[in-house]
Amino acid sequence: MKKVLCYTLFLTVFTVLGCSQQSKNSNDVEKKINSLLSQMTLDEKIGQMNQLTDVGINDDVKAQIKNGSVGSFLNTMSPEQINEMQKIAVEESRLGIPLVFARDIIHGFKTIFPVPLGQAASFNPEVGYNGARVAAVEASSVGIRWTFTPMMDISRDARWGRIAESCGEDPVLTAKMVVAMIRGFQGENLADPTSIAACAKHFAGYGAAESGKDYNTTWIPEELLRDVYLVPFEAAAKAGCATFMCSFNDINGVPSSGNRHLNVDILRNEWGYDGVLVSDWGSAQQMIPHGFSEDLKQAAEQAANAGMDMDMMGFAYINHLKELVNEGVVSEKTIDSAVRNILRLKYRLGLFDKPYVEIKDSTVFYAKESLEKAKQAAVESAVLLKNENNVLPLANLKSVAVIGALADAPADQVGTWCFDAEPSHSVTPIAAITEAYGKDVKINYVQTLKYSRDKNKSDFPKALAAARNSDAVLYFVGEEAILSGEAKCLADISLQGAQSELLTELKKSGKPVVLVVMAGRPLTIEKEAKEADAILYAFHGGTMAGAALADLIFGKAVPSGKLPVTMPKMVGQIPIYYNHKNTGRPTGKGATLIDEIPVGAGQFSIGSTSYHLDAGSEPLYPFGYGLSYTTFEYSDVQLSDTVISLNGKITAKCTIKNTGKYDACEVVQFYMRDLVGELIRPVKELKDFQKILIKAGESREVEFTLTTDDLAYWHSDMKKRADKGKFYLWIAPSSDLGKAVEFKLK
Ligand code: NOJ
Repeated sequence: MKKVLCYTLFLTVFTVLGCSQQSKNSNDVEKKINSLLSQMTLDEKIGQMNQLTDVGINDDVKAQIKNGSVGSFLNTMSPEQINEMQKIAVEESRLGIPLVFARDIIHGFKTIFPVPLGQAASFNPEVGYNGARVAAVEASSVGIRWTFTPMMDISRDARWGRIAESCGEDPVLTAKMVVAMIRGFQGENLADPTSIAACAKHFAGYGAAESGKDYNTTWIPEELLRDVYLVPFEAAAKAGCATFMCSFNDINGVPSSGNRHLNVDILRNEWGYDGVLVSDWGSAQQMIPHGFSEDLKQAAEQAANAGMDMDMMGFAYINHLKELVNEGVVSEKTIDSAVRNILRLKYRLGLFDKPYVEIKDSTVFYAKESLEKAKQAAVESAVLLKNENNVLPLANLKSVAVIGALADAPADQVGTWCFDAEPSHSVTPIAAITEAYGKDVKINYVQTLKYSRDKNKSDFPKALAAARNSDAVLYFVGEEAILSGEAKCLADISLQGAQSELLTELKKSGKPVVLVVMAGRPLTIEKEAKEADAILYAFHGGTMAGAALADLIFGKAVPSGKLPVTMPKMVGQIPIYYNHKNTGRPTGKGATLIDEIPVGAGQFSIGSTSYHLDAGSEPLYPFGYGLSYTTFEYSDVQLSDTVISLNGKITAKCTIKNTGKYDACEVVQFYMRDLVGELIRPVKELKDFQKILIKAGESREVEFTLTTDDLAYWHSDMKKRADKGKFYLWIAPSSDLGKAVEFKLK
C-alpha cells in the first residue's frame, strides 16, 4: 500500500513537474516566434506559407530560398541536396529560418509495412506504431522531417482507390490506429532527429466521394460528419499531430481549402489546434474548377481567410497574398497566425537548433528488427475468411502447386504509394515458401498469369497439370499495386483478368485450393468464395508479405486479422457498412432472392422490406469478421449494472475460451446500440476492442467500460449528448455475432 502511495506521489510530482516544464518550453517557443515574427517583412511571412516540390538545385531555386520566398519543400530526397538547400536558408537568407523537408511515406520508406487498410485488419495499434516508427527512423536519415501520413478518411466504398490508404469504415478503429501511427512518427519528442511530423489527412470527408470516384463531391450532414468522419481527426488533434492537410473534395458545396467552418470553427476554435494546416497539392488553386473561386487571387483570399496556413504547389499565396493584404481583404493578423503555426512546427522539430541532417550510411534501411516488425505486421494483417475442412494450415504434404500472378510480384505486393520502395528487397510468397519448405515439400510453381489483368490463358493446362500433380494448390490472386491508391478507382471490383477463370480451372484438379488475395481494397469475390476451399485475405502486405504468408500457410503463425471494412458480394451493394441505420422495414437474413420469386408473383407477395433482390441484405463478409486456426467460445456477458446514470459508467465482462489446438490471438469487439434516439442511431457501433493472446485450452476474462460519453452522439442542435432509454451491448468476435445485453440510461 505504502509503495503504491509513494509511486502515485512520484507520478503526480513527476507529471506536475513535467507539465510545468512543458508549458515553460512552449512559452519560450512562443516568445521566440513572436520575436522572429516582429522582424519579418510581409514578403518573408508569405514565403513561409509557400511549399514547393523539388526540381533540383538551380539558380532560381537558390534565389527563392535566399530571399525567403519558400518555407518548405516536398520530395527532395538526397540528404546532400537537403543540406545544401538548408545552408542557403540558414546562412544566406536574411533571418536564417530553416526549411522543412516533406515526403509522402504512407506505409514505409524502404521497409514497407502492409497498406494501412491491412494494418487496420490487425486491430492492433502497435502494428501502426511500429510501421510509423520504422518509417520515421529510415526517412529522417535522409533529412525528411515531415510526412503526409496518416490518412484517416473513413471509407465505406471499396471502389475508391484510396481505401487502401485508409483504416477502413469504422471511426473508433481508425482513431486508435492513427493515434498510434502519429506516436510512431513523432516519437517521444518531435525535436529528436529521428522524429518526423505527422499529418492528419485529408481534412475532411474525402472518403465519402460520390460513387467512389476520387476527388468527387461529398454531401455529409454535420451530424454524420461529426459522429463518423471527424472522429479520427479530433483524436489526432488531441494526440498532438503536428500538421493537418485540407482535402481535395467539397463538403456540401464548400471545398475544404476554403472551408472556414472546418478549418477555423472546428479545428482551431473547438479543438484548440495549434499545428500547421497545409493544402493538398494545388487544392487552393483547384477551387477554381470547383466553381468556388473566380481566379487564383480569389482562391488565395478564400483559403487564407478560411485558415489554410500553407499552400502546397498552388502558387496562390506567393502570387496574390501580398496584394490581398494591401487591399485589406486578408488581414496581416491572419497571415501572422498562419506563420506562427509554421514557425512553431519548425521550432518543435528542433530545426532552428539542428537544421542539417547527419549523413549516414544506408544500414539504417532494412534493419533486421525493422524487417521482423514488418513481417509481424503482415502476419497480423491477413484475414482468414474461409477454411473448409481445416485445409489450412498445410501439413503432411509431399507437394504443393503454387500458382498466380501475385505469387511472385515484388513491386505489387508492397502496394500503393511507395515511392521509395525497392522491390528487389521484397520477399515474395514463392521465394519464402521455397526457402522455408522447399527441402521437404515439392513445389510445382507455374505462375500462369503474369500480372493481375492478364487474360492470356495459354498456361492454363500447365497450371492444371501442376495442380493435379500436387497435394494442394496455393493460388495467389489480387490486384497490381497500380490498381489502388490515389485516382485508382474502379467501377468493377471483381478479380481482374483471367484470375477467376483460372480458379475454376484449378478446381478441376480435385485438390484443395487455397486462395490468397493480395489487394489494396476488398474485392467482390462471391463466386471465388464458393469455389475456394480456404481464403486468406492478405491485402498488399509490404516487403515481408511472402515470408508472413509462408508462416501462416504452413502453420508457423496463426491468422488473427479481422476485416476493417465490410466486403460486399457485388459492387451494387456499395455503400455497405456495418454501422448502418435499421430503416422502417429492415430485412433479416431470409430475404427472397431473385431466383426464388415465383413467375407471375403479385406486387406484394414477397413482402416489402429493404434489400436487393439479387444480393439480399447481407455482405459477403461483415466488418470485424475473421477466422483462426483455433476456435473461441464466448461466455455470456456480465454487466456491473443494468442502469447507467448520467455521468456514470458500467462495465461489461466476458470470458473467452480457446477451445482449439493452437495458441492464438483473438480480437474481442465491444459494440453498442442506442435503440431509440432523437436521431435514429446505427444498428451497431464499435466502442472498443482488445486483442488478446489465449493459449490452447485456456480462458481469459475481458472487461470493457462504457461511460455516458460513449453513448453520446451529435443531435440536430449540434450538441453532443446521450438519449435516455434502452441500449444494447455486445462483446463479440465480429459485428454480426454475439448476444445482445440490455441496459438503460436513466
Ligand atoms: C496528393 C494527395 O492527395 C496527398 O495525400 C499527398 O500527401 C499529396 N498529394 C502530396 O504528395
